[in-house]
Amino acid sequence: MSETILFLPDQKKFEVKPGTTILQAALKSGIHLGHKCGGRGACLTCKVKIDDNSAVSQPTKSELQKLGKNLIKAGTRLGCQTKVLKRLKVEVPEEPLKAAIRKQLAKQKNESIWDD
Ligand code: FES
Repeated sequence: MSETILFLPDQKKFEVKPGTTILQAALKSGIHLGHKCGGRGACLTCKVKIDDNSAVSQPTKSELQKLGKNLIKAGTRLGCQTKVLKRLKVEVPEEPLKAAIRKQLAKQKNESIWDD
């Protein structure tokens, strides 16, 4: 049995076994997600935003210490600590330069529709 994980903003879907961490899923899928501390819950470079806290494991001690209950409640989680249990959307923070390029390309694509 597997569950679907959708990574945004890339809009890439993958099937993962329940219990796989978001970081493991990202690395297997070729999604860039930072992990400076190697998944020990110490660096926060794997921080992501999820759409459904009921679709993942309970927050770990390090998530509670590093993020706090309010951020976790709002969907911010550490990818290395959070296990996928059900179908899930995960928003991976984009580097500012990559975000600017993606927005510009989307804008050009929309403009070219009207140019014809
Ligand atoms: S990889 Fe460092 S906190 Fe998750």
